[in-house]
Amino acid sequence: MLRIEHVSKSFGGLTAVADVSVDLANNRVTGLVGPNGSGKSTLFHIITGFYRADNGWILFRHKPIQDLPPDVISRLGLIRTFQQTRVLPFLSVRDNLLAVAPEQLGENILAVFFRPGAINRQERGNRRRAEEILQLLKLSHLADRPASELSYGQERLIELGRVLMCRPQLVLLDEPTSGVNPSLIRHIVQVIRQLTAQGIRFFVVEHNMPLVTELCERVLVMDAGRLIFDGLPETAQRDPAVIEAYLGKGCEAT
Ligand SMILES: Nc1ncnc2c1ncn2[C@@H]1O[C@H](COP(=O)(O)OP(=O)(O)OP(=O)(O)O)[C@@H](O)[C@H]1O
Ligand SMILES: [Mg+2]
Repeated sequence: MLRIEHVSKSFGGLTAVADVSVDLANNRVTGLVGPNGSGKSTLFHIITGFYRADNGWILFRHKPIQDLPPDVISRLGLIRTFQQTRVLPFLSVRDNLLAVAPEQLGENILAVFFRPGAINRQERGNRRRAEEILQLLKLSHLADRPASELSYGQERLIELGRVLMCRPQLVLLDEPTSGVNPSLIRHIVQVIRQLTAQGIRFFVVEHNMPLVTELCERVLVMDAGRLIFDGLPETAQRDPAVIEAYLGKGCEAT
């Protein structure tokens, strides 16, 4: 589904991503781990069009996307969340989902006059989709509450919900469980499982190794911009290069 070929990105003298090549194939959930500053978020920014790679190319469903802007990439079905949550606190939970519904005809002034039926159909479709997602996320009871009343973990769920409104095929999650309490983490895991059963694929940056092992059928490890491991999560934890990468940085994940 996603193929990355020889992708690099430098900031001044610092190489954040160094010649990374990988094919995500059709794995349900692929993990991306690595010490702080190893280039994980930068790679996500590049894949989703927020940064332009210095070299290399990226194919999403066989289509080159390395030169496309983020909105075009997301319309192709490749959508990300950010490491920092971005909900709109003053809108209701439901409206936080509706605000991102793609291609809203109602925003097009000509369509408002000439295609009112189509607008109504689209809005009904979006509302139905939002209700389905709220149900899946177990947030229906909060639909009319302002998003400012949500806990941090629930905000992360809404962020995922906003991604789902765009009917993604591949979702990139950057640290979806950081700062989230254990019971909500269980809920997020269940939601991801349900979505993979519907055919949605995930690429997830996650520091919590037990969770990576549980959730991911495959894990990639980055260190100093390079891909140093690609294989099973159980094997990653015993891999000398991976251990060295974490110990060298005195990191939490070992
Ligand atoms: N816009 C930028 N300008 C300059 N340097 C940057 C920029 N974005 C990232 N970097 C640097 O690139 C390197 C990789 O950063 P990145 O955020 O991709 O790491 P990460 O693996 O996501 O780390 P973390 O686990 O802490 O989130 C770091 O040294 C970071 O300081
Ligand atoms: Mg990061």
